[in-house]
Amino acid sequence: MSEGAQKKQEKPRKFQAIRGTRDLLPSETVLWNHVEQTAHAVFGTFGFGEIRVPIFESTDLFARSIGAETDVVSKEMYTFGGFAEFSERVRGGRMEGMLSEMQPEEMVSLRPEATASVCRAYIEHGMQQLPQPVKLYYMGPMFRRERPQKGRYRQFYQIGAEVLGGSDAPAIDAEVIEMVMTFFDRLELQGVQLDINSIGHSADNCRRGYVEKLKAALDKVKDKLGPDSQRRIETNPLRVLDSKVKDEQDIIATLPRIADHLCEECAAHYAAVKHELEMRGVFFRENWRLVRGLDYYMRTTFEITAQGLGSQNAVCGGGRYDGLVELLGGPPTKGIGFAIGEDRLILSLQESGKEVASGEWRVASKERKGVASGRLGVDVYVAWMGERAHATAIRAAKDLRKAGFSVELPPVEQKFGKALGQADKLGAKYALILGDNEVSEGLWTLKTLADGSQAKFTEPDLLEHLRRQKAL
Ligand code: HAM
Repeated sequence: MSEGAQKKQEKPRKFQAIRGTRDLLPSETVLWNHVEQTAHAVFGTFGFGEIRVPIFESTDLFARSIGAETDVVSKEMYTFGGFAEFSERVRGGRMEGMLSEMQPEEMVSLRPEATASVCRAYIEHGMQQLPQPVKLYYMGPMFRRERPQKGRYRQFYQIGAEVLGGSDAPAIDAEVIEMVMTFFDRLELQGVQLDINSIGHSADNCRRGYVEKLKAALDKVKDKLGPDSQRRIETNPLRVLDSKVKDEQDIIATLPRIADHLCEECAAHYAAVKHELEMRGVFFRENWRLVRGLDYYMRTTFEITAQGLGSQNAVCGGGRYDGLVELLGGPPTKGIGFAIGEDRLILSLQESGKEVASGEWRVASKERKGVASGRLGVDVYVAWMGERAHATAIRAAKDLRKAGFSVELPPVEQKFGKALGQADKLGAKYALILGDNEVSEGLWTLKTLADGSQAKFTEPDLLEHLRRQKAL
């Protein structure tokens, strides 16, 4: 076989999204955008400003903040970097003296979360000089190399918020939680359950003392626990409380509880947070086993679950992290925040049959056809025939778009029958029919596709008519 023929026979590889990543298609991004816009609106009313931090940072930033021993840092980060200069020189053929001069480049990691980055930015931009506290929120992709399953991805999205600086008044903890709950309420998320706990602070008369007692109690029952929990007794005994293994639940129920070992200040802080939540009408459940998987937490921790998610049902996690900014080289700074798993939030909304809230003219359910076709909420399909009509159609599309309507303008002339069929397929609300007659009369035909009715309008009347319809 000739080389050419052989090449022809080889089928090009079909690429697929990498395991644990996925495409979000227009039929879904409507809801994603709605969720994100609601976050901008709700968080804005609580005085939060948006921050955008890089997708990758120094590996060390995450190791120091989240903790080198945590699953996130020790197993799940996408880390790269190294000898960039080396490969550049090899490519350029400039190898002399290379080994002696070569400096390893700093390793970098795709961000597995954004709290560390926000604290880094707070320090880097001297935000402690601003009126305190500084209230920031963010949204965007995060990366963790976890085993993919429903609601768990390797590239997932978070919407998070952090309050940095100022005091650690319990009212701040409560307001941050109130803000997430208000956001979920606005989205009509179903089956929302807020769990809270206090994990005290790192001192002998508080968490450290408790962890010693916990470890001693765990050592006694070690043989009855599975391999993961056995390992955690050594690396991080608190995480044993997180275990979902069925056979371990009865044993865990007998372990000492942190609430009985908090120091006076932490106990008072926790009691005040609960009181502040009650004053805000926020319902919560105390969960002494809620310890969270990242090292930077102290005192208040919380998690929110929602319905329809199976085992990965946490839609939000957060807590207080007063020592973190200092740990990263900044001044002593109080901090508290949360992150919502946006993928899970969307899944839960979809499972409960939530469409984008009614009243959104562009994405009302009637336009589902359009959504499925990938063209969202086409308002006007411009069906034109003839050279003069073409010029008018271009002008009409420009004016309608300027007025905020979504317009589909076919690039080539089509018979009206075909054009109307196409408009229907796209789920357009109206077809604007422009032929020679319409152009010479200066009267344009507007067809309402839902009921097939037609009416003629002058150009300004048409715009006015559509505006009035949109306002209904
Ligand atoms: P986290 O609990 O690791 O906390 O993550 C927060 C939320 O992100 C989880 O509750 C979950 O909804 C979502 N999430 C985490 N991993 C995945 C995944 N592989 N796939 C889909 N969703 C996922 C943090 O990240 C902290 N930075 C939160 C925080 C902010 N604490 C204080 N400030």
